[in-house]
Amino acid sequence: MPFVETFRICEPGKAPFRDAVADAVALPSLLATMLRNLIEAWPPEVYDRPLVTTRFLGQRTTYVCDPASIRSLLVDQAEALEREPFMLRALAPALGSGILTADGSHWRGQRRTAAPMFRPDRVRGFVPAMARAAQATRSRWLRAGPPDGVRDILPEMMRTTFDIIVATMVSGDSQLEVEPFGRAIDAYLGQTSWKIALSMLGAPARIPHPGARAGARAAGYLRAEVARTVARRRARGEPGADLLGLLLQAEDPETGRPLPDESLVDNLLTFVAAGHETTALALTWTLRLLAEHPEVERRVVAEARGLGTDPAADPEAVDRLAYTRQVVMEAMRLYPPAPLIVRRAAADIRLGDRIVPAGQSVHVPVYALHRHRRIWDEPEVFDPDRFAPERAASRDRYAYLPFGAGPRVCIGMGLALTECLVVLATLLPAFRFVPTRPGMPANQFRVTLRPKGGMKMKVVPRDVR
Ligand code: HEM
Repeated sequence: MPFVETFRICEPGKAPFRDAVADAVALPSLLATMLRNLIEAWPPEVYDRPLVTTRFLGQRTTYVCDPASIRSLLVDQAEALEREPFMLRALAPALGSGILTADGSHWRGQRRTAAPMFRPDRVRGFVPAMARAAQATRSRWLRAGPPDGVRDILPEMMRTTFDIIVATMVSGDSQLEVEPFGRAIDAYLGQTSWKIALSMLGAPARIPHPGARAGARAAGYLRAEVARTVARRRARGEPGADLLGLLLQAEDPETGRPLPDESLVDNLLTFVAAGHETTALALTWTLRLLAEHPEVERRVVAEARGLGTDPAADPEAVDRLAYTRQVVMEAMRLYPPAPLIVRRAAADIRLGDRIVPAGQSVHVPVYALHRHRRIWDEPEVFDPDRFAPERAASRDRYAYLPFGAGPRVCIGMGLALTECLVVLATLLPAFRFVPTRPGMPANQFRVTLRPKGGMKMKVVPRDVR
């Protein structure tokens, strides 16, 4: 199996002093690249090799880009993996030790407790709330707007998915405000690139960096707001039928214990943060790709109009949006909202004939996997028919990982996909989108995959039929 070493890597044990000097010289430009866009710091081999190991400043990272090895890693050897310290350094100040950030028995208990909340029948029950939030966006866009009709679709979708997550999580009593909450999430995520880059380069956690104070303030604000929401609900005396109500009543099926308050805050914030930003990005990239591909857009609009009913009144109608679903899947192939899955080996890991020793980093570069030249024909081409049932069935399950895989697969996958379908079926029959600039915008890694500089498009109401 090929063992790739990129420009940042030197022959092990050959000339340690010269290697250290070369690394030190490369450090400023590597740091700048990582801060600009971590994806650009990946070695180019991740797009055409199965396994790639890099070394820098003595730290090794193995990138796993081969479906069989991904299965072996994330499923068969899941027990030998732990959270990557750099991700914890980036996320734990805000998310504490919730389902996304915890490990071992603490994770298992929380996951078991929360899993029933995301069952398909529960998700179905949230469709009317999703449809109402999408309709609110439609009304907002029809009412008034900038004279030239140009809107940044990313914050618009953030607002829509935030409304949905608030409606489904904390319906009724929410005083969570979208703008300050969104600003705090932006401030927080904005500085995580520093935390990740410094951590990957082995710098101590205490080292100051730009945005650190604003990030800490944002984390404090987010946690306090969510803690107040939980307290308001407790004061009401009855838990309610939304996700917070379910969380409050949830018991670990093995121990019978409810979640302690600290875990409630960790997980509610995790669901809000992990749930609304990623889904908004999936929608934003999808709308931009549709603007680029009018023939695909026409089929999506026809499918939505063909429903002949409103998902708010008939949640089962969502099942009939099969082509729209293919479009969202293909958009998430090219622009996976979570472009990188990271782990640390807690014990030695075997990948084919290679051993990744305990303590080393092992990453699945999802963005590269989805554009891998050995897996996909014409990987850069947007083609929703790749996800037509017969073509999808012939592909390895582990070639496509927008929601991860194995025991830590995204708990909100069904919720997110349903939400995308409801929002697209509500907005696309009412509007077409005209990009202000030709060509797809560049992307930028900010834990999630954001369009650099936003996603400005002219929102044009369609003629009412
Ligand atoms: C398009 C939208 C979404 C995408 C692309 C996405 C993607 C992912 C991915 C790739 C993972 C696995 C991370 C890893 O293995 O390290 C994950 C985990 C997770 N996601 Fe999502 N997600 C989305 C929506 C949601 C929603 C709506 C929620 C909840 C309301 C949610 C909650 C979580 C949680 C709690 C985890 C951690 C699961 C665990 O470690 O057991 N996500 N997500």
